[in-house]
Amino acid sequence: MTDLTIGQAQRLTAPCPFALLSTLRDDGGTNLMAVSWWSYLSNRPPMLGACLSKKGLSGELIRKSGEFALSIVDETLKEAALRCGTCSGRTADKAAEFGIALADAEKIAPQVVRDSRVVFECRLVDAREVSDHVLYIAEIVAIRGDADKKALFAFDGYGRLDTV
Ligand SMILES: Cc1cc2nc3c(=O)[nH]c(=O)nc-3n(C[C@H](O)[C@H](O)[C@H](O)COP(=O)(O)O)c2cc1C
Repeated sequence: MTDLTIGQAQRLTAPCPFALLSTLRDDGGTNLMAVSWWSYLSNRPPMLGACLSKKGLSGELIRKSGEFALSIVDETLKEAALRCGTCSGRTADKAAEFGIALADAEKIAPQVVRDSRVVFECRLVDAREVSDHVLYIAEIVAIRGDADKKALFAFDGYGRLDTV
């Protein structure tokens, strides 16, 4: 074995689970962000965590509304979903610009991505600062899915999405 940087280790541990995280924008619309640092945290109650850089808009919007969704988007969104990780909701309406169809959530205000294998609707429970990121810990309040759709995974850090 040889010494690795954290970036090299992250590449070697791919594929990573991938999601589009939706949040409620100030104008009532939905912002989408690409996320590969998310994890299940608890079964009873069902909880998950998403770790977001302090720089983006999404963390700010989660703290304002206390809600977000994670959509495990399907392979038809391979290119569009990657683009959601390359620009900020501060300057782009990503769903409209990249042609990503949204659908109403059951229990939260932000919309979810229609073409998804699984969608988690989440309410914020805690936010823990972790150096350059913030871990958003949330209770899952609704889960829907479609087993016929194939999930996307992240490879090469933030470089590429594909099915496995
Ligand atoms: C495949 C992929 C995965 C990503 N995963 C994360 C992540 O887990 N956490 C994070 O803070 N940023 C992640 N990013 C970067 C954000 O999606 C990016 O900074 C985005 O512009 C933030 O958007 P916002 O300002 O609208 O919130 C990822 C990007 C890509 C392409």
